Amino acid sequence: MTWREYHESTKHSVESLRRSLHALDWANMPDPFRHYEGVPVLDLPADPPAPETPVFEVLNGASGSTSAGDGPTFLSQLLFYSGAISASKRVQSTGDRYALRVNPSSGNLHPTEFHFLARGLTDWPDGLYHYIPSAHMAEQRALGDLEMKLTGSSAPIVFVLTSIAWREAWKYRDRAYRYCLHDIGHAWQALALAANAIGCDSFAVGHFPDDEVAEFCRFNEDEWPMLIVEVRGASIPLREPDARETVWYGGRANQLSEETIAYPAIDGIHNATKLSNRACRGISAAEPAPTGSGEITLPPPASSRSSFGEVVRMRRSALDFRGGTQSMSLTQLSAILAATARPLLADFASARFIQLYLYVHRVDGLQPGVYRHWSERGELERIGSGDQRVAAAGLSLGQDLAGNACVAFSMIGDLERATRAHGDRGYRYVHFEVGAIGHRLYLSAEMLGFGATGIGAFYDEEVHRYLNLAPDRGQVVYHFAIGYPVSDPRLEA
Ligand SMILES: Cc1cc2nc3c(=O)[nH]c(=O)nc-3n(C[C@H](O)[C@H](O)[C@H](O)COP(=O)(O)O)c2cc1C
Repeated sequence: MTWREYHESTKHSVESLRRSLHALDWANMPDPFRHYEGVPVLDLPADPPAPETPVFEVLNGASGSTSAGDGPTFLSQLLFYSGAISASKRVQSTGDRYALRVNPSSGNLHPTEFHFLARGLTDWPDGLYHYIPSAHMAEQRALGDLEMKLTGSSAPIVFVLTSIAWREAWKYRDRAYRYCLHDIGHAWQALALAANAIGCDSFAVGHFPDDEVAEFCRFNEDEWPMLIVEVRGASIPLREPDARETVWYGGRANQLSEETIAYPAIDGIHNATKLSNRACRGISAAEPAPTGSGEITLPPPASSRSSFGEVVRMRRSALDFRGGTQSMSLTQLSAILAATARPLLADFASARFIQLYLYVHRVDGLQPGVYRHWSERGELERIGSGDQRVAAAGLSLGQDLAGNACVAFSMIGDLERATRAHGDRGYRYVHFEVGAIGHRLYLSAEMLGFGATGIGAFYDEEVHRYLNLAPDRGQVVYHFAIGYPVSDPRLEA
């Protein structure tokens, strides 16, 4: 299996959907919460302080501050604003509730788990931890000095984000691996921005030896390490690291469902995108992204004073948008696009692989049409004109929300350039980048009073045809919509 074979075989088409008669087996739905049973569980203090810095500033590279004066409060704050439960929904027919989190996830299935190494935090033992969002607590899987030698990282907090692909495959089958990668991109950006909001820097490492990291962290075999995120900064309450020997508790991973169904295509793409220890010596630089220009220069962006803490905990995916005539201003669109163009701090992100195409439905000062965003110059190039509502919804597998939004997006990934530089591993990096961009779209939309929804379901080749994209210009890897959200009767605070 190569990235190309996997990608081709997981494209949606009218025909592929007609052929696939997949019924969800609710009795076998995977548990959305992983536990490592039999290990000490440490409390993260409830109600950590809310980061007050405006999210607009954080999205534009400013660093905030924290009043957290000890390790547990600091960790609690970082996780409460990146991966915690933030709301619930009630199924109207049964009354059952389910949880929603700060980080979004396709189908709300949450394949991503947050693990972290802590070294030298005050009042918090050095060791390896697994975050349990259901209780906002941390399972202590190992105690002692566990410096992440595999990546050469000596940061005081090092996250290892893992994917449990079965959680996603239960619903989305072979295409699920794509969504696992998107979700990692969202979780990475949720962590990176929360770290910035409380006065830290972060750096993501995608280029690491998979099996060695999995072994080092003693992950259960269904959890795959996908991204390492180092967090450092003067605001972290620190002491000298422990010198004591490592004590392993490990823990027994809970079984997520009665039966785990094998998806050979997912195992195949995962193995194809793995790196061995030998392959990890230095990451090569990718060719730079092509540059271009458009006839519309975006105006200075609209601003917002909404605090990071408030926006992050309020963020939700819109069920649909109110169509009608209410529009978005060009300065608001400018702010949303500017937030996607900021540097992403990762070993694979020095050259960017994603370009945004916009289906503009209702933006003041822009004719309805299709536009290409040239992020370096802050310009839009019109490549198609006329009403795009039916096309945007149709291309998004007939989902009305892409037509009722003010603006919808096709995000085009340069998979060829990424894999020329990084081999099959580049397939992951394109999806991490697009997930990170998606996360920035969610937060910038929310801060301006809009709603947003990530859209993983689209007719791949139809999008390429509609946008007149030659294969060497990239392939669609994510859709997105932003507009005025309808209220969601299932939502509870
Ligand atoms: C990668 C990805 C793909 C998604 N695809 C769709 C989609 O095709 N249609 C849709 O209505 N929502 C989609 N969503 C939104 C999720 O359903 C939503 O994030 C999830 O239900 C959790 O809700 P929340 O975002 O409010 O926390 C997607 C989200 C992500 C992160």
